[in-house]
Amino acid sequence: MKVFVLNGPNLGRLGKREPAVYGSTTHADLAELCVKTGGELGIDVEVRQTDHEGEMVGWLHEAADGRNPVVLNAGAWTHYSIAVRDAAAQLAAPLIELHISNVHKREAFRHHSVLSDIATAVIAGLGVDGYPLALRWLAANAG
Ligand code: DQA
Repeated sequence: MKVFVLNGPNLGRLGKREPAVYGSTTHADLAELCVKTGGELGIDVEVRQTDHEGEMVGWLHEAADGRNPVVLNAGAWTHYSIAVRDAAAQLAAPLIELHISNVHKREAFRHHSVLSDIATAVIAGLGVDGYPLALRWLAANAG
């Protein structure tokens, strides 16, 4: 089984970006953690990040066609992108919506997600530790 971990806008700046909110782990460190966790779980994990909505939509189409589970941190798109939602709605395998921060403790505009009602589960507020948790659940329950 191959799982896609797809990170949206500004997440390439992890480590530099508002460390009090998102922590000091870089995106490269996060990708390494996910691939290492996948190795321990016996699953392939591919981690990608983009600041371009159309590219994210294309990756979700690829996961839909490949019937791949997805861990999706859509960043700000979470809160308003119907295009990302419509692409995610086509997935055949589980979708885990993930947020590093607890969006519900933050500004009101972060409380609404256009993804949560089509996601299998939502993880928010566990920092980057949420990613290996999501992968562990998928290894046990998807595919
Ligand atoms: C985020 C939360 C979003 O509100 C924000 O726009 C992000 C990151 C998180 O991981 O906590 O870019 O998805």
